[in-house]
Amino acid sequence: MKRRLITAALPYANGFIHLGHCAGAYIPADMYARFLRLNGEQTLFVCGSDEYGVAITISAEAEGVTPRDIIDKYHFANSEAFARLGISFDIYSRTSEPEHTRAAQEFFLDWLRKGLLVEREEGQFYDEVAKMFLPDRYVEGVCPNCGSDKARGDQCENCGAYYNQIELKNPRSKVSGQTPVIRKTKHWYFKLNEFQEAIEVYAESRAAYWKDNVMQQTRSWLKQGLAERAASRDLSWGVPVPLPDADGKVIYVWFEAVLGYISATKIWAQNQGTPEAWRDWWKKSDDNIYTAFLGKDNIVFHTIIFPIILMAADDYVLPAYVPANEFLNFEGQKFSKSRNWGVYARDFLQDFPEPAQIDALRYTIAANLPETRDSDFSWKDFQVKNNNELAAVFGNFVNRTAQFLHKYFGGAVPVLPERFAKLPEAWELLTDDLKREPLGREESRAKYESKHLRYFNPDEFAVLSALEFGTRRIAECYHSFRLREALLETMNVARAANKFFNDAAPWKTVKTDPDQCAKTLYVCAQLVRSLAVMFAPVTPNSSAEALRMLNTDSYTGEPDAKAAGVNRWNDVLHPLLAQGAMTAPPKILFGKIEDATVEKQLSKMGTATAAETVTEEELLGIDDFRKIQLRTAKVIAAERVPKSEKLLKLRVEIAGKERQILAGIAKFYTPEEMTGKTVVVAANLKPAKLMGLESQGMLLAANDDEGNLALVTLEREMPSGAEVR
Ligand code: 2FM
Ligand code: ZN
Repeated sequence: MKRRLITAALPYANGFIHLGHCAGAYIPADMYARFLRLNGEQTLFVCGSDEYGVAITISAEAEGVTPRDIIDKYHFANSEAFARLGISFDIYSRTSEPEHTRAAQEFFLDWLRKGLLVEREEGQFYDEVAKMFLPDRYVEGVCPNCGSDKARGDQCENCGAYYNQIELKNPRSKVSGQTPVIRKTKHWYFKLNEFQEAIEVYAESRAAYWKDNVMQQTRSWLKQGLAERAASRDLSWGVPVPLPDADGKVIYVWFEAVLGYISATKIWAQNQGTPEAWRDWWKKSDDNIYTAFLGKDNIVFHTIIFPIILMAADDYVLPAYVPANEFLNFEGQKFSKSRNWGVYARDFLQDFPEPAQIDALRYTIAANLPETRDSDFSWKDFQVKNNNELAAVFGNFVNRTAQFLHKYFGGAVPVLPERFAKLPEAWELLTDDLKREPLGREESRAKYESKHLRYFNPDEFAVLSALEFGTRRIAECYHSFRLREALLETMNVARAANKFFNDAAPWKTVKTDPDQCAKTLYVCAQLVRSLAVMFAPVTPNSSAEALRMLNTDSYTGEPDAKAAGVNRWNDVLHPLLAQGAMTAPPKILFGKIEDATVEKQLSKMGTATAAETVTEEELLGIDDFRKIQLRTAKVIAAERVPKSEKLLKLRVEIAGKERQILAGIAKFYTPEEMTGKTVVVAANLKPAKLMGLESQGMLLAANDDEGNLALVTLEREMPSGAEVR
C-alpha cells in the first residue's frame, strides 16, 4: 500500500501566521491530507516552527528579550492558531528540539565524510556597528549585473542574477544602516554543483506533474548553474557546526530548516512508541510518495537544495509533487506587516471563534487558492461565500432535510414503503453501472436511464449520477492538486442535491403521495451524509456536526489510527444510513454574516496592529492591574531641563506630599501651561535617573504613531491624591 508523506513549509517563529500563509501552504495541505485519509490512504502530515536564523536574533534584540522568548511566543501562538483552524498535522514540531539538532548535525557530518563540504576562508560583509557578519537578507546595494539599487545580499530581484555577496556595489547594512567592511571568515561550502546533472534529470522527470511556476523557477536556477554555497554562518542562534574548530558557526538555516521535516517525523515516531517508524516514510521506495506544500518564495529550496540533501544521504524519497502556490492579496493589495495590511489568523479567530465561522474561512480561502496566479481575499467575498454558498446551498440542504425528517418522519430516516423496498439494491446497481462510464462522457449515462427508471424517477437518477460523477471528478482533482476545482465540484453536488429537493417537492408529495415522499427523504438523508463527508476536507467542523446530527460516524479526516485503511470516500456512493435510524434535532450549520460585521473588519484593515490585540496569555488579572497605583497630582512648578529638548522637570503635589517628576513632554507643553494642571501619575514606580536627575513617578499621556502626545487630564475638578482606577 502506498504511503503518502506530506510536509508544509515550516513557518518562521518570528511572526504570527496570516491568511496568506494559510492559502499558500497550510489549507491546501490540510485539504489534501484530509482527503487522503478519508480515501483510506496511509498519510503522514508533518510540520513545525522554523526557529533559527538571524531574523530571530534581531527581533530579540529589538524587543530586549532572548531568542528563546521570541520563538516560544510565536511557536505557541502559531501552533494554537493552526489547531483552531483545523490543520490536521500528525505532528507540529519545532527546530529547537534537541532531536533536530542531532539530526542536522548528523547530516552535516555525513556531508563532510562524503567530501561534499569544502572548508575555506572568504571575505564577507561585516557590520562594525552591529558587530556581526551580515547575512544576505541584511545587506542591500547596487546589483553588479544590472545596476539596480535594490539588490539584496547575493541575489538581484530585478535581473535574477546570483553573485557572491561581496560583489554587491555600495553595500549598506540593513541592521545599522552603515557601510559594512569586508572581513575574512571560515565557512563550509556545499558542492551543490556536483548535483547539477542529477537535479536536472530529476526535475525534468517531474515536468509533467509540476506546475509552470515550479518548473520555471527550478529551470532558471539550474540554467545559471549550481555553485558551491556556504552551508554555515557566523551566528549564535542556530544548530552549531559539530566540529572542534567551529566556535560561533552554525549550519546555515537553508541547509538545516528543511531537515526539520525529518526530525519532526523522528519525534512523531518516538511519540508513537515506534522510534524507527520514521524510516518507513522517508526511505526511497515505489510505495512512498512525498508531497511538499509551500509558497512560491520557497520553491527552489524544495526542488533543488532539499533534493540534493536527500540524494546525498542516499536512499531517501524525493519530493514527487511540489504544489507551490502564488500569493494571496488582501482587498486587492499585497500583504504588508508594517502597514498592517492583511489578516492574521489569530485576529480572525478572536473575532470569529465559532467552528462554522472557521469553516467559512477555510471555504473562502479554498475557493480562492492562488494556484496559478496571485488571488485575493476580501471580507465581502467572505460574507458572500458564507451566506450565498455555504449557508444557502450546503447548509440549507442539510437543514431542510433535517427539518423535514423531524416534522413528518418523527426524526427518523424514512422506512421505505413496500413499493420502493428494492431501492437500496437498485442504488448499488446504478452506482456500479455509472462507475463503468468514463468521466467526461456523462451524456452516456442516458443509456442506463431506461434500465434504472424502473426504480428511480428522472430527478433521482439525475442527483445520483451527479453524486457518482462528482465524487470521481473531485477525487481526481485532489490527486492532481486542483483543489479549487475540487471544492467547486463539491459545491456542484450540493447544488444538485438542493435542486433535487426543489424538484421533488416533498412538501407536496407528503399529502399527495406519501410513499414517494418517504423515498425522496430517504435519498435526501443519504445525500446529507455523502455531502458531509465530501465537504469534510474543507469544512471539517460543520461536516462533523452534520454527521453527528445523523447519529453516524463523524470522522472528517483527522489523524486517527483507527481510521487508517477504511475508504470513506467510496462510501459516499452508498446509502449507508439504515431505514428507521433516529437523527438528532436539526441545528443550523452556518449562520449569516451581516454587513455590519464586514464593515467592522474593513475598518480595521491598515489600522490597529496585531501587536495591539492581546492574546489570552497576555491578559492581566485585576490584581496585576491594581499593582500600579495611579493618582491625581497637582503640578505646582515646572521648568525645562537644560540641554534636553524633551524633558520638563515638574514639582507635583500628591495628597499633601511633594515629589519631582521628569516628563518627556517639553515639545508639547510649556512650563507655564503645566503649572496648575491636575494630571495622572503612576505613583509607585521605582525612582529613575534621567539626565542626572531623579524622577519619582510617571505622567500618563497618549502617544500616536506620528509622535504626537496629549496628557491625560481630568474631566472634572478632583483633589490631588485621588485614586485613578
Ligand atoms: O519561508 C519560511 O517561512 C521558511 N521558514 C520556510 C522554511 S520551509 C522548510 F525549509 F523548512
Ligand atoms: Zn540585477
